[in-house]
Amino acid sequence: MRLSDCHNIDDFRKLAKARLPWPVFDYIDGAADDELTKARNTTAFDDADLVPDVLAGVAEIDTSCTILGRKSALPLMLSPTAVQRAFHHKGETAVAKAAEKFGLWFGISSLATRSIEEIAALTSGPKLFQLYVHKDKGLNQSMIERCQAAKFDAMALTVDTIVSGKRERCLRSGFTTPPRFTPSAVWSYATRPRWTLDYVFREKFRLPNLDSHVAEGTGKAVSIAEYFNTMLDTSMDWDTAARIRQDWGGKFALKGVMSLNDARRAVEIGADAIMISNHGGRQLDGSRAPFDQLREIVDCVGGEIEIIVDGGVRRGTHVLKSLAAGATAASGGRLYLYALAAAGQPGVERAIGILKDEIERGMRLMGVTSVDQLTPERLRWR
Ligand code: FNR
Repeated sequence: MRLSDCHNIDDFRKLAKARLPWPVFDYIDGAADDELTKARNTTAFDDADLVPDVLAGVAEIDTSCTILGRKSALPLMLSPTAVQRAFHHKGETAVAKAAEKFGLWFGISSLATRSIEEIAALTSGPKLFQLYVHKDKGLNQSMIERCQAAKFDAMALTVDTIVSGKRERCLRSGFTTPPRFTPSAVWSYATRPRWTLDYVFREKFRLPNLDSHVAEGTGKAVSIAEYFNTMLDTSMDWDTAARIRQDWGGKFALKGVMSLNDARRAVEIGADAIMISNHGGRQLDGSRAPFDQLREIVDCVGGEIEIIVDGGVRRGTHVLKSLAAGATAASGGRLYLYALAAAGQPGVERAIGILKDEIERGMRLMGVTSVDQLTPERLRWR
């Protein structure tokens, strides 16, 4: 299978599976416990049907929207994801450049393998920094200040990762950061020489946003679960979120809000957006899907805060359904990670291009010429 054989996100997943050693593939593809929530995040979209209008004159259409104060060419964001250089040696550089080319938001993780400053120098497109609150308050402060100096457009505070979800595929594979060659996976690394040689001979794998605070300094490989459970601040609460909102001062989103109560509190602390998210099913298995929860959240805080549906998006029509149900935009991680793993920047560009085409085609077939015409009447729930 080649890149030119990829016509949807699942095709990129198959190519990624063929290219990556299984511990690395399972880190991307896996989720918590029985992975019920991960599966539901996507199938939730099947419970609502689009209702098209015809003869609407759709020669010219505008797919753009405004998210967190900046124009986005599509109502789609690239969610922040950790350690992208484990998937392809270009990592965040490839994703940031592809996002800039298509005029989309790029989300960089606290656990990125490129620094805040490198990303800022690389792209003039809209950029969001995802903050994990660490026990080390100096580290939190330094990341906020570095983002301010680098003129990031927004910050998203991830609030669903107080402890790590039970990611059983990672427990079995022993996946660590930086990746380490575990005996059970030796064969898999040996039969993926392109990945393995790239990983061994390219520049050293680092987590530069953590300064010298963590693994980088010690050179120790840790599992992501171990990292979360030892480094992150389990006492984080609404006062912490409000303080970070204030210290940061710019556009601010809470990532991982699910309940109506929390959506209301996000408005109260002055957040500009919430990302309805269960971390792609990687945290609390059995948690509701973002798309299932969207309508109630829109009824509760719609019009007061931007609402982004994060998780399960694999099709342009999933984005259209999210907008019709009241979201400002949709967002996703695996939709571009499989493509990054499959083929680096050209892969990510092809994946975004396919979603762009699906969004445009879907809008034309729906008889709408701008995203604000996707209103609740255009959706029927089964
Ligand atoms: C993530 N996600 C994530 N979220 C976050 O706030 N910080 C992070 O470092 C990461 N890292 C990460 C790594 C990988 C491999 C995945 C798949 C996901 C969650 C991510 O931002 C987003 O919420 C989910 O990816 C959404 O689900 P889909 O689109 O992957 O189905």
